Amino acid sequence: MRKIRMGMVGGGDGAFIGAVHRIAAAMDSRVELVCGCFSGDPERALSSGQALGLETDRVYSDYHTMMGMEAALAADRRMDFVTIVTPNHLHLPVAKAAFEQGFHVLSDKPATLNLAEMKELMAVAESSGKLYGLTHTYLGYPMVQEARQRVERGELGTIRKLIVEYSQGWLAAADDPNNKQAAWRIDPRQAGESCCMADIGSHAFNLAEAISGLKVTELCADIGPLVPGRQLDDDGTAMLRFDNGARGVLIASQVSVGEENNLQIRIYGDRGGLQWQQEQPNSLKLMYNDQPAQIVRTGWSGTSEASCSLTRTPAGHPEGYLEAFANLYLQFAERIAAAEEGRPPAGLASSMPGLSDAYRGMAFIEAVVAASAGGDKWHSLKDHPGNTEA
Ligand SMILES: NC(=O)c1ccc[n+]([C@@H]2O[C@H](COP(=O)([O-])OP(=O)(O)OC[C@H]3O[C@@H](n4cnc5c(N)ncnc54)[C@H](O)[C@@H]3O)[C@@H](O)[C@H]2O)c1
Repeated sequence: MRKIRMGMVGGGDGAFIGAVHRIAAAMDSRVELVCGCFSGDPERALSSGQALGLETDRVYSDYHTMMGMEAALAADRRMDFVTIVTPNHLHLPVAKAAFEQGFHVLSDKPATLNLAEMKELMAVAESSGKLYGLTHTYLGYPMVQEARQRVERGELGTIRKLIVEYSQGWLAAADDPNNKQAAWRIDPRQAGESCCMADIGSHAFNLAEAISGLKVTELCADIGPLVPGRQLDDDGTAMLRFDNGARGVLIASQVSVGEENNLQIRIYGDRGGLQWQQEQPNSLKLMYNDQPAQIVRTGWSGTSEASCSLTRTPAGHPEGYLEAFANLYLQFAERIAAAEEGRPPAGLASSMPGLSDAYRGMAFIEAVVAASAGGDKWHSLKDHPGNTEA
């Protein structure tokens, strides 16, 4: 089994998520970083690549040059896929440049700046015939897949109520222009039409749909900035209606003082309920009306094959964020290998987030912004054009 070769755009010195991606990609020795364009500043792009020990001629000062130069290399040397870890406004242009040169794309979320761009991304991805993956990190957690399987097996009965929350506190203070991560997230030109809902609300939305297997059809919302001077939302709440008639609430906030990464979900069916909390990721709580609640833990027999396949260490040795990311890398590498070998991808690789999740996320952001700004109570999510993952 050969290693899958990865290039990276973004993730230079001082960046946040690029380093997490590199650790995750390296964790299982299935993927190797071979090249990159790590910054929009050419000097920083080069110094960042050199600090990672890459060959000098595989460190590029702009991403267009990177795509062209990589495409010109021998097939057994050039990158197989590019990981995009830039601010949101560059997700589409970088993905487009990669697809046009025949590379697969693994992008961080949100997929694009807005829904119109998302449609363009779908068209380019489809005509390229290459793979697209989206790093909705939380789907890489074993207990999220355990929850998904239990809902699918009908253990909760018919789902009637969902409550999903992603609360952080890191944007609670007045803006500091030296905070690199905050600066672009509150700028509509780089973040899109939303800050908080695009940045973390989209994760909560994806988690609710993925675990429940349901689709949001309509929502109403109240979002906006609570810190004076901001143009984009830093907090908000949406009420959700699902396609089976279930109701839900989605809360996202970046100004909830003291909160770290408090992503949690509760789902109630007519037979049982469940709760998963990102800050205690190795436990899944199951709830009933006729017996005490149970805590299911990672690494035990009796848990699903899916959750076991995402667990590396024996029960009680904590796994978390980096391992969840690594699971997505393993799945994307498997999808590439399967495509090369002309077979279906094994295990969870076939259901990892792709273009349809990307579209749903962008439709959610558009709807939540429109619903909050408009006078009508309920707003429909734009129809999904179909699952068109290459
Ligand atoms: N999946 C997750 O859990 C998760 C978590 C955090 C961030 N994200 C997403 O990851 C992306 C990056 O977020 P971040 O917090 O790491 O931001 P960041 O500001 O820390 O890093 C962005 C990087 O992109 C680089 N960049 C900017 N313009 C570039 C260009 N033209 N060419 C090459 N590189 C360029 C910057 O120099 C920087 O290194 C965002 O889309 C964000 O939504 C996802």
